[in-house]
Amino acid sequence: MNNAVAGFSKLSKEEKINWIAKEYFSNPSEAIALLKNYWNTDEKIQKLHDEFIENTITNFYIPLGVAPNFLINNKYSAIPMAIEESSVVAAASKTAKFWSTRGGFKATVINTEKIGQVHFIYKGDISKLELFFIQTKAKFFSETESITKNMQKRGGGILDIVLKDKTNLLPNYFQLHATFETKDSMGANFINSCLEQFAKTLREEALVYELFSVTEKNIQIVMSILSNYVPNCLVRAEVSCPVEELKEKHIPNPQEFAERFVQAVQIAEVEPYRAVTHNKGIMNGIDAVVLATGNDFRAVEAGIHAYASRNGHYSSLSHAKIENGIFTFWLEIPLALGTVGGLTSLHPLVKLSLEMLENPSAKELMQVVAVAGLAQNFAALRSLTTTGIQEGHMKMHLNNIINQFEANDDERILVHKYFKKNTISHSAVVDFIENLRK
Ligand code: MEV
Repeated sequence: MNNAVAGFSKLSKEEKINWIAKEYFSNPSEAIALLKNYWNTDEKIQKLHDEFIENTITNFYIPLGVAPNFLINNKYSAIPMAIEESSVVAAASKTAKFWSTRGGFKATVINTEKIGQVHFIYKGDISKLELFFIQTKAKFFSETESITKNMQKRGGGILDIVLKDKTNLLPNYFQLHATFETKDSMGANFINSCLEQFAKTLREEALVYELFSVTEKNIQIVMSILSNYVPNCLVRAEVSCPVEELKEKHIPNPQEFAERFVQAVQIAEVEPYRAVTHNKGIMNGIDAVVLATGNDFRAVEAGIHAYASRNGHYSSLSHAKIENGIFTFWLEIPLALGTVGGLTSLHPLVKLSLEMLENPSAKELMQVVAVAGLAQNFAALRSLTTTGIQEGHMKMHLNNIINQFEANDDERILVHKYFKKNTISHSAVVDFIENLRK
């Protein structure tokens, strides 16, 4: 049985590694060597990474790829993507090229409003609480002035604060529901600081509010936190062209293709089992750009999936139609992103990714991310409704299988040659390599 450890975070990195290796590995020196092999030789870069989180022992690599040729609102972008799944960047690049000769992607930001809430318990007369809120509202703004000053200079700040009665859901449960504009920052720290001040003001002002009884004065703050559900921080991405222009090598009959494509989207609209996988494909594109640009992909994921369920059942994020001979495919997603603050000026590769995107505003980044999601979805549906997904997927995965078997250069060449003409599957590749080695 392994031992517990006291004060682990206080140990040096070397001590942490030694302890972990001794405690959990059959070959401690091998584990230590591997961990150290992934340290950056540039001490400055390594120190940065060490300090991103607690108890860093090494770096965990994920490839950073590029999908070029994305024509978005008539401007070309090369999109940085951090992702481990073999086919994602290839699919994005292929789709970018396809649409670049068909008008490109159109993207628009519909709104940029963020949300935060103070959740509290009030036991008493609701009309008195409502009056208290009206009379105190200005104070919520004035007492957060030191926090909002800089954001206001950048054109952002607190948009509004409303009192919400949630007693139909939980006894005595109320909220201060606040909306914010955070411009180019994701705004999590700004919003949470404002909310914690609102909570303080709420509690202190209630204590001295003359109309409240002793019980009513004693408002209990449960928590103050931003919401990652941002249905009013919305971006739309779209592609569209005459059906006959969809024609290419793999799409000999564009009308049939467009109809099957629309059906595939409709299935994802009505069938949650399919919708989850359909949206997962969209997230392949979204997460990769979100990660490469130093944004919080967990927040983005949580918010987007909540949005996918907004009508009471989980549904497709994208939609497609054929109208008057025109094929249109689009999605609308909530995205709270930042291009300043957070990791954006800290992580050297995030800085590089943002520079590759020509240092976009948060709104421009929202558009790029939405386009990457739509492109990924287009690529998946195009394969699924024509050749099937495995052909392209396994082609990209072939190198991973070869690497598992530590094939030498000669074996690699033979494997690639053979599987150019033969169907790739894990077992077929394994059989082929084993036969070679006999
Ligand atoms: C695989 O990562 C994503 C797909 O399953 C998405 C889809 O089915 O639409 C190919």
